[in-house]
Amino acid sequence: MNRLAPSILSADFSKLGEEVAEIEKAGAHVIHVDVMDGHFVPNISYGATVMKSLIGKTKMPFDVHLMIENPEKYIEDFVTENTEIITVHAEACVHLHRTIQLIHSFGVKAGVALNPATLPDVLDYVLEEIDLALVMSVNPGFGGQKFIPSALHKVKALQNQKELRNQELIIEIDGGITLDNIKMVTDAGAELVVAGSSVFGVEDRLCRVQQFLNIMK
Ligand code: DX5
Ligand code: ZN
Repeated sequence: MNRLAPSILSADFSKLGEEVAEIEKAGAHVIHVDVMDGHFVPNISYGATVMKSLIGKTKMPFDVHLMIENPEKYIEDFVTENTEIITVHAEACVHLHRTIQLIHSFGVKAGVALNPATLPDVLDYVLEEIDLALVMSVNPGFGGQKFIPSALHKVKALQNQKELRNQELIIEIDGGITLDNIKMVTDAGAELVVAGSSVFGVEDRLCRVQQFLNIMK
């Protein structure tokens, strides 16, 4: 089943709980949590405290996207009763295999994200170890950027690998997703779709989530 993961990066943090409740009511499946450290990416967002403020306020699982250096130091902070997935960047991990094992040791799904210029081949020797591959369709760091079309080829390449190996693997796409391109990305094989500014950045979030869900089902 395809799932929509609105990113709270574009939410109004003075009413985060309300906005999250609204998109949950509209049928969104997952909350995407963008963590930025100002080193791996040129922007600082928020940490585990903000994410944890949503525990008990939503039943939606958390999909944690760590855009940080040395992610292994902070993984435990993001393990909560709502946490379904923790994703680290391949470019930020010297010992990627070990970090994947660390995430699994907390009983959480492990994901690996790839920047737009990173080859999908970096996953060849860990593909069987991971639960999710996140294809970045913008350069990580900011919401509201334009979709980079080459990400579609990467989604397709990963989808082929998944079929060849007959493996369970969630393919996620993140960045620049709109009502105009969501069909293309789900057709290419992405089943977890992140949308930030195109959900939290609009007036009628409830209606927008329903529009996305109608196209992607
Ligand atoms: C970008 C983040 C994205 C971002 C998506 O660095 O990883 O999750 O919030 O925002 P939009 O959908 O506005 O591109
Ligand atoms: Zn993200």
